[in-house]
Amino acid sequence: MNTDHFRFPCFLGRRVHLGVTGSIAAYKSLELLRLLVDAHIDVGVTVTASGQRFVGAASFQALGAGVVHTSMFPDERRGLGEDPFAHLTPGRSADAFVIAPATANIIAKIAGGIADDMLSTQALAFRGPLIVAPAMNPNMWSAPATQSNWRTLLDRGVIAAGPDNGSVACGDTGQGRLCRLEHIFAQVLRALSPKDLAGKNVLITLGPTREPWDAVRYLSNPSSGLMGATLAMAAWMRGADVHVVAGPTDFDFPPSVHVVRVTTALEMLAAASDLFPAADIACCTAAVADFRPVPPTGGVAHKLKKRDIDPLALSIALTPNPDILRTLGAAKRKGQILIGFAAETDGVLAQAKMKLAEKRLDLIVANRIGVPGSGFAASTNVVAVLDRTGRVEQWPELPKTEVAWRIWDLLQHL
Ligand code: CTP
Repeated sequence: MNTDHFRFPCFLGRRVHLGVTGSIAAYKSLELLRLLVDAHIDVGVTVTASGQRFVGAASFQALGAGVVHTSMFPDERRGLGEDPFAHLTPGRSADAFVIAPATANIIAKIAGGIADDMLSTQALAFRGPLIVAPAMNPNMWSAPATQSNWRTLLDRGVIAAGPDNGSVACGDTGQGRLCRLEHIFAQVLRALSPKDLAGKNVLITLGPTREPWDAVRYLSNPSSGLMGATLAMAAWMRGADVHVVAGPTDFDFPPSVHVVRVTTALEMLAAASDLFPAADIACCTAAVADFRPVPPTGGVAHKLKKRDIDPLALSIALTPNPDILRTLGAAKRKGQILIGFAAETDGVLAQAKMKLAEKRLDLIVANRIGVPGSGFAASTNVVAVLDRTGRVEQWPELPKTEVAWRIWDLLQHL
């Protein structure tokens, strides 16, 4: 699964505290630490005594943790830090606290306000966003005591990351697996983000469409869908309820992002038209195939055999596809915001201006395709943004994640 759309550069210097408890999944917390450090986040770590049976403090230090707490009292710390108020450090300085993996024991302790070791004490003294990623045997997870403790945490505003369904270390199957690390990471980024899109319903189309000719051949384009995927992630992180209509792509989204997967332009139109009436903001980034092939005799469900065609007389007829953005523009009601993209090889601004007016858009993001660092399948983009009031901004080459972030910033001033 692709997670390039999780790489946002705007969390430099933010501080996160990572708590690790005694689950077999504890080794995965090292990878979570790497994801956080790669996002330029300062990470402090506390590993409980049972957590240290699975992973040692030195591993976290080697992977870039700023400080690693292993016990409550200085005489037991053996030089790993002598601050007598370390139990208050995350509460004073961390922007978010994540416990991954979280055992039934730590969940029970936090629910009951028990503070009998460093991690539970730090969690009790922390007032910011707390993300908890449970990992345990399915019978322990479904136990009435754990479920009641978990509900207590959720009622208090703790942010849940998982647990997932699947097989666990002991061979049992059920709910209790540590959820995907990228989903925990995404919840941390979300906790660090402003919530200026809270309450907004956002619809995004992304990726290419694939137009079948026969059972094995199709017409498409090289769109990676990354621009739309980053817009969806940024909107979700900023509090929106996000609906994605995705052409053939392999982006992994957090479970609370609603994803409808489609193949053809006609399917994308149907899904987007269904979702549009409820949307406050719709953003069409999809590189929709403007034409679809007319299938050979025999229809799209059959493979055309080479022996059945005359290669000298072979041709493919095309028929136009509907313009999804234009269709949404025509149906737009007062107060809805519609954002389009323009992929151009020449006359970028003039073409974009024309599309803004013709498709009844509020904002258009124009990029030149066929130049390095911009357009299809690149991780960066060079765009100009035009809005309905006539404002034009030209942005330098930026990661697509940053372009997405800036587009949502811009919307606040529309
Ligand atoms: N779009 C769409 N449905 C289509 C074609 C385009 O929703 N059938 C949307 C794209 O998602 C994008 C915008 O329209 O937001 C502009 O797409 P673009 O390919 O730049 O231009 P077209 O309108 O298709 O016009 P042309 O190909 O002539 O430049």
